[in-house]
Amino acid sequence: MIEMRYKKYYSALFTISVKVFFCFVALSFIAASPYPDRIVLTWSGDPSDSQAVTWRTDRSVQRALAQIAVAEENGHDIRPTEVEAVTTPFSSELGGEVCYHSVNFNGLLPGTTYAYRVGDGEVWTEWFHFRTASRKPEPFSFIYFGDAQTDIKTYWSRVFRQAFRGDPDAAFTLHAGDLINRAENDEQWDEWFNAPGWVNASVPVIATPGNHEYFRDRYAESDSSCLSSFWQPQFAFPQNGPEGVKESCYYIDYQGVRIISLNSNEKQEEQSQWLRDLLSHNPQKWTIITFHHPIFSPAMGRDNPELRNLWKPLFDEFKVDLVLTGHDHTYARTHSEGSAYIVSVSGPKLYDLDKQEWMHRSAEKIQLYQIIRIDSDKLAYEAYTATGRLYDKFTLEKQEGGKNLLMEAISDATMSSGSFR
Ligand SMILES: [Fe+2]
Repeated sequence: MIEMRYKKYYSALFTISVKVFFCFVALSFIAASPYPDRIVLTWSGDPSDSQAVTWRTDRSVQRALAQIAVAEENGHDIRPTEVEAVTTPFSSELGGEVCYHSVNFNGLLPGTTYAYRVGDGEVWTEWFHFRTASRKPEPFSFIYFGDAQTDIKTYWSRVFRQAFRGDPDAAFTLHAGDLINRAENDEQWDEWFNAPGWVNASVPVIATPGNHEYFRDRYAESDSSCLSSFWQPQFAFPQNGPEGVKESCYYIDYQGVRIISLNSNEKQEEQSQWLRDLLSHNPQKWTIITFHHPIFSPAMGRDNPELRNLWKPLFDEFKVDLVLTGHDHTYARTHSEGSAYIVSVSGPKLYDLDKQEWMHRSAEKIQLYQIIRIDSDKLAYEAYTATGRLYDKFTLEKQEGGKNLLMEAISDATMSSGSFR
C-alpha cells in the first residue's frame, strides 16, 4: 500500500516537473530581449507617403527609436533621420512584461525605396527596405492567406515561404483572420511572427480578425468576447473605421484599389452603415473586401444567412470585385455575375468540403495561398498549393457598365489534378 502511494506521488511529481520544464522551454523561446523582435510593417495612413512599423522588446529599453532614409546602393551612404517611437507596456501570461513600440514614418516620397532600422540608440536591427506606393493606379500584386491558425511554425511557415518565393515583389500580404488559435497565447503569436521572419519587416501586413482572435475576458463584467489584447499593440492599422472596431474594420487605398477589412465578429450592423458611406464615395477602380466568416460557406452546417443578408446587398449595389474570407478550412470560389467570393485556408487545420452548386472550383484538405495581380482593367487571381502547384486561376476584366467579365484561366489538366472541381 505504501509503495503504491509513493508511486502515485512520484508520478504526479514527474508530471508537474515535465510541465514546468516545457513551460521554461516555451518561455525561453518567446522571451523578449533588448533586441527588437516581431518587427512588422503595416499602414495606418496613406501607403504612398507613410509607413508604420511595430516591434517588441523587453522592459529594459529606455528609448525606442527608428531611423529612416532613402535606400542607398552602398549601405555606408545611408544618412538617416531619427524618429521616436510610441511605447506601449504589455503583459502576457507566458511572455511576461514586455513593450511594443510603434513608429509611423510620414512625409515619404511616393514610389521610393526606403531603408530603416529600429532599436534604442545602441542596439539596432539590420537595415530593412520597403517601398512606398505610387500616388497613381499602377500594376501591383499581393498575397492572400486564409487561416494559418494551428501548427503555425511546423506546417504554416512553409506555405508562407513558398508564397513569398512565388511573389517576392508582393506589395503586401493579406491575412483573412484566425492568424492564431488562441487569442491570448503569446507562444502562438510568436510562431506567427517567426514564420514570415524578416519578410514582415519589409512587406506590409493587412489583417482582419477571426473568431480565434477573440477571447472571453474572465475579468470583464459582460460575458461577451473581446479582441485579442495583442492586436492593437502589435499592429498599427488605420483608425478610419467605425467606433468600437477601429483597427479591425478599416480601409487602405493602394494604387487604384480600395482594400477594406470588415470585422465579421462584432458590430456588423454598425459596419454596414460605415461601408455604405465608404463605397458611396469610392474613387478607386477596384474594391476588394476581406473579413473572416464567409457568406457562402463550403463547410457543413456553417451557412451564415444573417451576415449574407446584411452585407451582400451592399456588395451587389456597389459592385465589389473580390471578397476574400477564411474560417471554413476548405477552399471554394464562385463563378457568377457580381462579386467573386473566395474562401481559403493556408494552415494545416482542414475540414471536410460540403460540395455545393455555387462552387466553380473547390478543395478539401489542401493548404493554399493566393497571388492576386491588378493591372489597369484586369485582375488576375491564382491559387497555389504549399508545393507551388497552380490549383485555381481566373481573371476579372472591367466592362462598360461596371460589370466584370470573369474568365476561367485554368486548364482542364490542372482542374482534374485537384481533389475536387
Ligand atoms: Fe474561424
